Amino acid sequence: MKKVKVAVIGCGGICKATYMNNMVNMFEIIDVVGVADKIDSRAQWIADHYNVRKMTVDEIMQDKEIEIVVNLTYPEAHFEISSLAMRNGKHVYCEKMMTPTFAEASELMRIMAENNVLLTTAPDTFLGAWEQSARKYLDEGIIGQPVTIHAQMTMRYQPESPFFDTKPKHYFFPLHHGGGFPFDLCGYYLHEMINLFGSIKRVSGFGGNINPVRTFTNPKHPRYNETFIVDTPTTLMAALEFENGVLGTFHISSDSYMSQNFVVTGTDGTLNLGDPNMFNGRLRVTRPGAAPDFEVLLPGMQPGKNSMLRDDDDDDRQQLAEYTKAQTVELPLLHGFYESSRSVGLADMCYALRNGRRPRCHADIGYHSIEVIHGIQESCISGKVYEMTTRCIRPAPLAASAYPVTGQERTLDD
Ligand SMILES: NC(=O)c1ccc[n+]([C@@H]2O[C@H](COP(=O)([O-])OP(=O)(O)OC[C@H]3O[C@@H](n4cnc5c(N)ncnc54)[C@H](O)[C@@H]3O)[C@@H](O)[C@H]2O)c1
Repeated sequence: MKKVKVAVIGCGGICKATYMNNMVNMFEIIDVVGVADKIDSRAQWIADHYNVRKMTVDEIMQDKEIEIVVNLTYPEAHFEISSLAMRNGKHVYCEKMMTPTFAEASELMRIMAENNVLLTTAPDTFLGAWEQSARKYLDEGIIGQPVTIHAQMTMRYQPESPFFDTKPKHYFFPLHHGGGFPFDLCGYYLHEMINLFGSIKRVSGFGGNINPVRTFTNPKHPRYNETFIVDTPTTLMAALEFENGVLGTFHISSDSYMSQNFVVTGTDGTLNLGDPNMFNGRLRVTRPGAAPDFEVLLPGMQPGKNSMLRDDDDDDRQQLAEYTKAQTVELPLLHGFYESSRSVGLADMCYALRNGRRPRCHADIGYHSIEVIHGIQESCISGKVYEMTTRCIRPAPLAASAYPVTGQERTLDD
């Protein structure tokens, strides 16, 4: 199959940490021909280490052979680079979030249609092993009918680096508009929830920027003990209603200490999910019959008889027997991409282009997700439920696979 020529704009942290290695070494279909960054030394470093051309943004736009622009700039620059590329007839794969505002995202959707090109958006972690396996288990009814989903992610964002925000090189976007916690981490949870249950119908929320004034806490920072302003929401608590009737809560905060919880409850059991920022993760199901049927002894119970209950408590005895039969077991992962596979969404897009199918990371998911974040913020201000105006198509599942890492790319060629 003819490889797809791509060029990268934005050679910062994530490009260096995972993207370049994965694009060059993990996926046969991707052919990285050039890289650009407005900080020249960054593009130079990537070009030298991966033997690709350092280019200007303009050169990338003019190069007829380049089919896809991979937009790895920070969120404030996503609109500028994605719109420029699409207006130059390029398809775009853009890191999360699509744009910081719903208005800009709407404009990108219009530009995509106008130029008859494809726009896809990260996060692509929902194509990972635990995320796809969870979907398969749920679709096959492992916990009966799903009823609720709860997502919780909290982490204190206090920059550790003494250089934080003293030079462009150390610009810490998560504490700036459009890069804050709802934008930096919501997408992982929303894309996986959409992968599991499809579109969201209504949202409501509380919270906002509850801690705008921060202090440089690192004694090595030149502005140690001075305050600075964070201009992005920092704590949101939301309720979600999916079109399929599932109800969700979403709790996200960069003000609280670290916690993470992602769980689906169903009529017959509970499925504990992994971290949607990761490809590998643990899936644990709790339900009667999940494990081999053996006797569980609660404190105060003896084998063969239950000293906590009177002899005539037959109903209670039966209920307790049911309860104690509920076991938690870890489920095997059934899919590929269990190691760090960022850019798998780009590889999927390349196969989509060659095979004439819909890419799994289609922009409609990124667009729907940014409207959810927008809607939660609107609801925080208005105190009213926000009715979603967009919907997205639940992306097609990946086939289960027992291929080793070198063979898992095959599951994208469908
Ligand atoms: N850092 C992470 O761990 C991580 C993880 C997953 C996803 N992401 C996403 O990846 C994207 C980039 O994150 P990062 O951490 O690499 O940010 P970064 O700030 O380290 O890098 C962004 C780069 O884009 C360049 N840039 C910005 N505007 C440009 C323009 N107009 N033309 C050319 N170059 C431009 C900057 O000079 C910078 O080098 C973000 O959308 C982020 O949400 C980051």
